[in-house]
Amino acid sequence: MAYQNIDLTRDGHVAIIRLDRPKALNALNSAMMGEVAQALAALESDDAIGCVILTGSDKAFAAGADIKEMSDNDYLSIYKNDPFEANHCAIERFRKPIIAAVAGYALGGGCEIAMMCDFIIAAETAKFGQPEINLGVMPGIGGTQRLMRAVGKAKAMDLCLTGRMMDAEEAERAGLVSRIVKLDDLMETALDAASKIAAQSQPVAMITKETINAGFNMTLEQGIHFERRLFQSLFSTQDQKEGMAAFIEKRKPHFKNK
Ligand code: CAA
Repeated sequence: MAYQNIDLTRDGHVAIIRLDRPKALNALNSAMMGEVAQALAALESDDAIGCVILTGSDKAFAAGADIKEMSDNDYLSIYKNDPFEANHCAIERFRKPIIAAVAGYALGGGCEIAMMCDFIIAAETAKFGQPEINLGVMPGIGGTQRLMRAVGKAKAMDLCLTGRMMDAEEAERAGLVSRIVKLDDLMETALDAASKIAAQSQPVAMITKETINAGFNMTLEQGIHFERRLFQSLFSTQDQKEGMAAFIEKRKPHFKNK
């Protein structure tokens, strides 16, 4: 399938989706996000793929939802079409691990889709922000909620109300990103992490992701109960037998995703 607004490549068991609208700093229009959703649907059903990297260019991961596409909406049209639900939210519904590799601007919807990924690896040049207030709106794809959960109320309020950007160091200190690397090392680092994940048992990685995400909507007690039941269920897999046998036999495990 040929895409116009993204570039989809593979490296072993890892797929790399590169947002590719350089003239608009990868602003998220419906064509591009439709392609992201289509690519993710294909990758989800592709057993050979164990992890996905979502990235942009050196200058911009994505500078937000496409303001030019969005600006003529009125309440009823944006309510009825709900343009972000079907496509942008495909990232949050994606069941395999997905890493955001962010360089340059990750603003508005760009920051929001990075936060939909399972973790963010940032280049030193990354800049995060929710500047929607400057446009007379507010974040609309989960920014107020995910940012608050990631960095706490004070910083989420600061960013959403002032519209300022934060650099990679501040984002790492605040817990938004898992690691910062030099720009030149960004893709190698992301690929290394993704390859490690893809070499694990696919169902175990998926269930681990599901369990961590489920915890956001549960009490600690419910989350621990959910975790325990799923932990127990993993003893029904061949991969649990293989992983533990490999440890005892002092060899590398060969997971079969079963
Ligand atoms: N939508 C549409 N086009 C955008 C865009 C966006 N979000 N961001 C940048 N562009 C376009 C610019 O219009 C410009 O196009 P032209 O050359 O045709 O004029 C091109 O990309 C380059 O942008 P700049 O000239 O502005 O580049 P810069 O280096 O001077 O500034 C920037 C970079 C600070 C990121 C600036 O482009 C900017 O502030 N962009 C908007 C950021 C923003 O407000 N994002 C939130 C969008 S709303 C949203 O996301 C809502 C939501 O939650 C659902």
